Amino acid sequence: MKFTFAASPSSPDAIAFAVGKDELDNATLSLEQADMVRAAAKAARFEGKTGQTFQTFVTEAKSVVQVILTGIGKGERSDCEAAGGAVVAKLLTSGVKHLAIDNSGLDQDQLARLLFGAKLRSWRIDKYRTTMPEQNKPTLVEITVMDTGMESAEVWQDLSAVADGVALTRELVSEPANVIYPESFVERCKELEDMGVEFTVLGQEEMEKLGMGALLGVSQGSVRPPRLLAMRWDGTNGAQKKPLALVGKGVTFDTGGISLKPPAGMEDMKWDMGGAGAVAGTMKALAGRKARVHVVGVCGLVENMPDGNAQRPGDVVKSMSGQTIEVINTDAEGRLVLCDALHWTQETFEPEVVVNLATLTGAIIVSLGNEHAGCFSNDDDLSDNLLAAGKTAGDPLWRFPLSAAYDKQINSPIADMKNVGGKGAGSITAAQFLKRFIKDGVKWAHLDIAGMAWADKPGPVWDKGATGFGVRLLDQYVADHFEK
Ligand code: BES
Ligand code: MN
Ligand code: ZN
Repeated sequence: MKFTFAASPSSPDAIAFAVGKDELDNATLSLEQADMVRAAAKAARFEGKTGQTFQTFVTEAKSVVQVILTGIGKGERSDCEAAGGAVVAKLLTSGVKHLAIDNSGLDQDQLARLLFGAKLRSWRIDKYRTTMPEQNKPTLVEITVMDTGMESAEVWQDLSAVADGVALTRELVSEPANVIYPESFVERCKELEDMGVEFTVLGQEEMEKLGMGALLGVSQGSVRPPRLLAMRWDGTNGAQKKPLALVGKGVTFDTGGISLKPPAGMEDMKWDMGGAGAVAGTMKALAGRKARVHVVGVCGLVENMPDGNAQRPGDVVKSMSGQTIEVINTDAEGRLVLCDALHWTQETFEPEVVVNLATLTGAIIVSLGNEHAGCFSNDDDLSDNLLAAGKTAGDPLWRFPLSAAYDKQINSPIADMKNVGGKGAGSITAAQFLKRFIKDGVKWAHLDIAGMAWADKPGPVWDKGATGFGVRLLDQYVADHFEK
């Protein structure tokens, strides 16, 4: 989508106006037939509720144009984002090519949020469709904002960068596993180098030398070599000594390994790298808006396959931390990847705060459905701050408990721990496992995003498919706690 800025756009096919809840009578509609539009909208029960739209046609300067009213409810940030998303959802494949957005009644922040929602909602992946009927193809290519001051406004520049970060996450998550595997994931992220992000990439041999037996055990059944990717952005000129670390589970495909998953729905496991995808997208957002933060994003990238060389249930592996793990179930592989990625991150970067993201457990979907991601933390302030950022940004979290009683479920009769607990509390025992790899004094949160990385139905600012969950949340957390 191309965003342009002009006070009077040349011949748009459609013009959008934002209308607050019950504000139809007061809304400025600079149209020759404004009264008619108002009456028609009223007749169609348009009230300006968030996400509600009304479409009609009018004549303007002797030609026919479509008018779309979009409800912004109370005009809060999420309302405006949803209103921008709703306009794009309606017009994307409608035949309309050029949309003008009238900024009447919107302050600069509200307008920027509306554009942010529009930009987020316009992302889609059509590259693999070669026979799509003309009727279904996207037509909307340009949005002209009727406020020339907005183009260079910092608020829009920043939000546009965040939307670009979300787009990278969605791209990585949507791509099939024959296209995105550990090496190609790294390649796709390389664009961030041009933005000033410093890359470190570890291959198999380096990880062997470091003793990452847990991560490598997962990878050993795959012909795709693993990668550990670290991306560092310092927007503080060295002022922030200890970085914030973001660590993502990047299982580019999860068959379950020898503990093979059932076939129904297994294709979903192409997005088992959603945590790593969110880390990469967040790095792009932060570098793109030159955030004043020192942050490192680490992605543990492997493919979990069954094979003659795959690890077996009962195998004991040694993690980089020295702790040994009995692999009871090869499908509980995310924690095995993360434990080495987390340990290496703490050794290498000495972060003060570590946030890891992972599509870790099906159990979190049983608990929370597709409405919240689970948050597990050893620090109440960190948890509170993440929950607040998530609420503000539209990536909601819900906190779960950690305790010694859950922890003992993963004691093993042969090794330091096993990789699965008992029947209940599967998401919590997974978190307890990760916690065993967090050093004393490090503030840590684990976000289980298994229910949030992918959507079966469209949301306010995404279509069905990859949501980009985590990017807006982490960007907000950084803005609130590192840039203030
Ligand atoms: N990647 C899955 C979790 C998952 C499930 C993500 C559904 C997204 C949607 C994870 O690796 C896994 O297989 N977890 C097992 C753990 C079990 C073996 C203890 C699970 O949730 O069943
Ligand atoms: Mn698994
Ligand atoms: Zn998995």
